[in-house]
Amino acid sequence: MITISRIMEKIDLKTLNDNVFDLIGKEWVLITAGTKNGGFNMMTASWGCLGWLWNKPVAVIFVRPERYTHQFVEAGEYVTLSFLGNGSEAREIYNYCGSKSGRDSDKVQATGLRPVETETGGITYEQSRLTLECRKLYKDSIKPECFIDSSIEKWYGANGGYHDIYVLEIINAYK
Ligand SMILES: Cc1cc2nc3c(=O)[nH]c(=O)nc-3n(C[C@H](O)[C@H](O)[C@H](O)COP(=O)(O)O)c2cc1C
Repeated sequence: MITISRIMEKIDLKTLNDNVFDLIGKEWVLITAGTKNGGFNMMTASWGCLGWLWNKPVAVIFVRPERYTHQFVEAGEYVTLSFLGNGSEAREIYNYCGSKSGRDSDKVQATGLRPVETETGGITYEQSRLTLECRKLYKDSIKPECFIDSSIEKWYGANGGYHDIYVLEIINAYK
C-alpha cells in the first residue's frame, strides 16, 4: 500500500471552496475506519456536517450501529472522509459501498478502490480528490425522546437503528 505523500498534497483547510451542501449531500463521501494491519472498512454517507466547534475544524458523521463500518469507527482513534467526485467510477464505488456490507464482500476488490495509508495510519484511496483525516472527539446517539419535529421518526425503526453521532476534529486535509 502506498503512502499518502506520494500521491496527495496536504492543503490548508481554509483554501477549500466546495459548497458543503453539494459536497456531502450530492457528491457523497466514503467514511473509512481501521488500519492496514488491523483491517479496515468503508461505507458511503450522504448525511454529515462540516463546521467549527470547540475552536477546531470539525466533521460530524452519523453511523448506524448495524453498519460493519461502525465497529471500526468505535475501535480506532481516527476516521477518514474521502470525497471521490462525480465521475462514473466514483458513482459506481459509492453505490457499491452504500449498498453492500463489508461483512459479506471485499469492497476493495469489488470496486477497484486503491487504498493509501495516511500519516496517522488511516486509509484513503488513490481515487479520492479530497481527503479529510479526522480524530474522534465526541460521541452521542440519536434519541427518540429528543425529537422536536416528530417527522424525523420516519428515518428510524424499519429504516434502521438510531445513528451514533461522532464529532471529529479535522487534523489534515489532502488533495
Ligand atoms: C447515498 C447513501 C448515503 C448513505 N448515508 C449513510 C449515513 O450517513 N449513515 C449510515 O449509517 N449509513 C448510510 N448509508 C448506508 C451505508 O452506506 C450502507 O448500509 C453500507 O452498505 C454499510 O456498509 P458496511 O456494513 O460495510 O459498513 C448510505 C447509503 C447510501 C447509498
